[in-house]
Amino acid sequence: MAELLGLGITHYPPLLGAPDAFANLLRIIMTSDLVPEKMKQVENWPGEMQQEYESEVQKAAEHQERHIKALAEVRRRIDDFNPDAVIMFGDDQYENFKEDVIPPFNIYCMDSFHSRPFEMLKMLGDPPNIWGVDSGFAYDVAGNGILGRSLAHAIIESDCPIAYSYKYANHDHLSHAFANACVYLDWDQKGWPYPIIPISVNCYGTGVIKSRGGFSHLLDKRPMALRDPYLDAQAPAGPTPRSCFNVGQALRDALEHRDERIVVMASSGWSHAFLVEKHSYLYPDREFDAARVSELRNGDQANWASLTNNEVESAGSQEFKNWICLAGVFPERQAQVIEYLDTWIFNSQKCFAVFES
Ligand SMILES: [Fe+2]
Repeated sequence: MAELLGLGITHYPPLLGAPDAFANLLRIIMTSDLVPEKMKQVENWPGEMQQEYESEVQKAAEHQERHIKALAEVRRRIDDFNPDAVIMFGDDQYENFKEDVIPPFNIYCMDSFHSRPFEMLKMLGDPPNIWGVDSGFAYDVAGNGILGRSLAHAIIESDCPIAYSYKYANHDHLSHAFANACVYLDWDQKGWPYPIIPISVNCYGTGVIKSRGGFSHLLDKRPMALRDPYLDAQAPAGPTPRSCFNVGQALRDALEHRDERIVVMASSGWSHAFLVEKHSYLYPDREFDAARVSELRNGDQANWASLTNNEVESAGSQEFKNWICLAGVFPERQAQVIEYLDTWIFNSQKCFAVFES
């Protein structure tokens, strides 16, 4: 059996920029016609949300600081473990996979991943990144195509169909879930020496096309008559929590016949405000995520397989599916929660955890 280390982190895109822009997404969302006028008035927000917004600058600085500390701890665990490869579950948000094909899961079998990690900031108004690196900066992250191909074969042979790819489809650079993880885990810019094997998950499911994998659904001002019956309508379901868990299990079984040292990681935030209709898209479903982190602390992550797509999507916790895949790899391990960031105004809940043997 391969030696395995499990990890979960966030790939929160605003973290690429300065903390004073963390709440910009909230301000962008407030321009949406889908947010009721009443909820555009700060005095109508929940009291705790108003308080957080009043001390936004201080809260944003703390939010950044806690991210940096947690990421440094995760990086330390990875360096101590010294893996041969890092397998990452991450959402593809209408990036590499679009109308021509949206695979529920896809494993990349590539030796090199061209990456332009700061492209993502364009969606957020293109603020400068905090490292002062040119926004067009490009580099290549090493992969391990042969290991990826062997794992794809073993997973498919274990009755768990998974797509695989030897090159990018629609994108010419690494999707943000993986690109951000590589940047954040190299915060001090000392280098990222570990080959990666990304596994994309269609977390956004029914919204992946109509929201263009983000929050386009909130900013569409066109009348219904001008909308496309396919592109602007609900897409078929994304993979169920049970199938996410099963993919994790199949990956674990595939790794059983190997002898490498492997990190298996989930890269994603949890509930995202811009997906939570019942909260007027302004704040995340903190209760849903609180229940999940409590299960994680209790070693009950196998319960996540029993969630439904409806429960996950109504909580705006679509990206949590990456963590359900991770739970399938480590259903019996006791996680250590390194950090849990609970927020009203910075769009998404974040968790950092490690599953040691
Ligand atoms: Fe994401």
